Amino acid sequence: MTLEIDVVCLFPAMVETPLSESIPGRARERGLVELRVHDLRRWGLGRHRSVDATPYGGGAGMVLRPEPIAGAIDELRRADSTVVLLDPGGRVFSQAVAAELAARSHLVIVCPRYEGVDDRVRDLADLELSIGDYVLSGGEPAAVVVVDAVTRLVPGVIEAASTDEESFARGLLEYPQYTRPPEFRGRTVPPVLVSGHHEEVRRWRLEASLRRPLARRPDLLAGRAVSDEERRSLDRIRAEGDEAAEEDGA
Ligand code: ADE
Repeated sequence: MTLEIDVVCLFPAMVETPLSESIPGRARERGLVELRVHDLRRWGLGRHRSVDATPYGGGAGMVLRPEPIAGAIDELRRADSTVVLLDPGGRVFSQAVAAELAARSHLVIVCPRYEGVDDRVRDLADLELSIGDYVLSGGEPAAVVVVDAVTRLVPGVIEAASTDEESFARGLLEYPQYTRPPEFRGRTVPPVLVSGHHEEVRRWRLEASLRRPLARRPDLLAGRAVSDEERRSLDRIRAEGDEAAEEDGA
């Protein structure tokens, strides 16, 4: 099945160019994702295709008028569409949201610019999404992030082994990877990885994938189901930490 995505923005090249490369570019060439990027000015008003105006009540900057955005959504929305408005105040985008969106058949992604949108268009969206707690100059880079993360989850875009539950863990809880050369600036590769023992490699990776987030990002672990084997590894790592703390204290 093809995932269709319509992006509406003021700077189409900012979305079109990055999403023509690499995995999203190949997904489009292969017809797994059909991405269309539209210039909001197409729905702009008057001879100048105006899309913005000064805010009522005064203040700096311009606000996107409601009519062009409403015009775009009215034209692009179908019965099967999910309409997403990008906004720094929206629901925070995550791998779980990416998976939800990858399962839809048609996304319309609207990218505001300037100081924001007229508040009366918010009801026209099904979902407001933020890619993180910072303010971009506009929604275009956020659209690139969302489309990239969603595209790689569309069946057939990349090997299933890289997107299944196990390696979703791999994506967020990445174990350390090594390649040639065997020694780099005096640092060697963990011997287990060149031992040829597949089972030991698997166990080492599982434990290594938990070790770093346990120290740096415990929230990533807290938010997901943990298998029995992972729980045993976590207990072992925590026990090591306790031993080290006792040694430091001694
Ligand atoms: N527009 C401006 N900042 C944004 C953010 N953090 N996420 C989504 N859209 C935005």
